Amino acid sequence: MSSQQQVLITGGQGQLATDLIQVFNSSDTVALSHQQLDITQRSDVEAALRHYKPDVVINAAAFTDVDKCEDQPVQARLVNSLGPENLIAVANKIDARVLQISTDYVFDGTLGRPYIESDDTNPQSIYGQTKLQGEQAMRDRDLIVRTSWLCGSHGSNILKTIVALAQTDKPMRFVNDQTGHPSFTQDIAVTIKQLVEIEAQGTFHVTNQGPVSWYEFAYSILEMMGRPTHQLTPITTDQLDPPRPATRPTNSVLNNQALLTVGLTPPPHFRDTLPLLLKELCD
Ligand SMILES: NC(=O)c1ccc[n+]([C@@H]2O[C@H](COP(=O)([O-])OP(=O)(O)OC[C@H]3O[C@@H](n4cnc5c(N)ncnc54)[C@H](OP(=O)(O)O)[C@@H]3O)[C@@H](O)[C@H]2O)c1
Repeated sequence: MSSQQQVLITGGQGQLATDLIQVFNSSDTVALSHQQLDITQRSDVEAALRHYKPDVVINAAAFTDVDKCEDQPVQARLVNSLGPENLIAVANKIDARVLQISTDYVFDGTLGRPYIESDDTNPQSIYGQTKLQGEQAMRDRDLIVRTSWLCGSHGSNILKTIVALAQTDKPMRFVNDQTGHPSFTQDIAVTIKQLVEIEAQGTFHVTNQGPVSWYEFAYSILEMMGRPTHQLTPITTDQLDPPRPATRPTNSVLNNQALLTVGLTPPPHFRDTLPLLLKELCD
């Protein structure tokens, strides 16, 4: 990336944004927390973008609690749909590009193979619907990065939950009928930087490799921690008690083929990064 290219990251205290800040050159990058910039407020977005004059806005801000989105559809639409619309409206005025982070939940999860970027969307939850509307706000010159099952060393996520439970004898039940690609924020941030550097446009799936069910992911974590796996029981989605309010895709596996077409290597297999992350979390 040219040293002149300025990057502004929204939702700056989120788990992905925190790793983006570490990966991007700090002198070219500004990150604004929710408190510093609420993307639902058009006038605030306009003031911030006119002040910082970014070439690229990375929108890592979102209402990410999938179940709460079912209860709060208005707020979900404000943050996940109107927020990106605001960014585009102002980006038009200051000639900036927008990189919108999106999700596997734009798909219904019924396809019998990994999803490629051009596959039909059909979200089954309020979260997925509002995130898709966020994608639809983008222009041809913008970038959409769909990722899945995000976890890392910042914020709260399933990996940290499993690591904490593994220190106890508490039983763990994980569904074995939803499959996806775990994605580590530190790896996803590196690929996002590469996409920004080559000024890529369009939609890209960016995940770690290695499809697993949630049960299999939890099993891998316990195994790599050297913990007994008998705490762990596989269940079906129907056996979740209470049932989760939002429908999750059964097949969340995103094929990263578009990265190859622009000469980039997809993020590594999740088993390559997991030991490093576990060392960091357990030390
Ligand atoms: N987590 C996943 O498994 C997953 C999977 C696929 C895709 N994604 C996508 O990846 C992106 C990053 O996710 P993440 O896991 O890093 O999310 P996260 O940790 O929940 O961070 C989201 C950030 O957005 C902020 N935010 C919420 N409403 C805002 C608003 N109106 N204006 C400005 N900031 C606001 C939040 O601040 P507060 O905490 O103060 O509200 C939070 O700091 C999101 O676009 C998400 O949809 C996530």
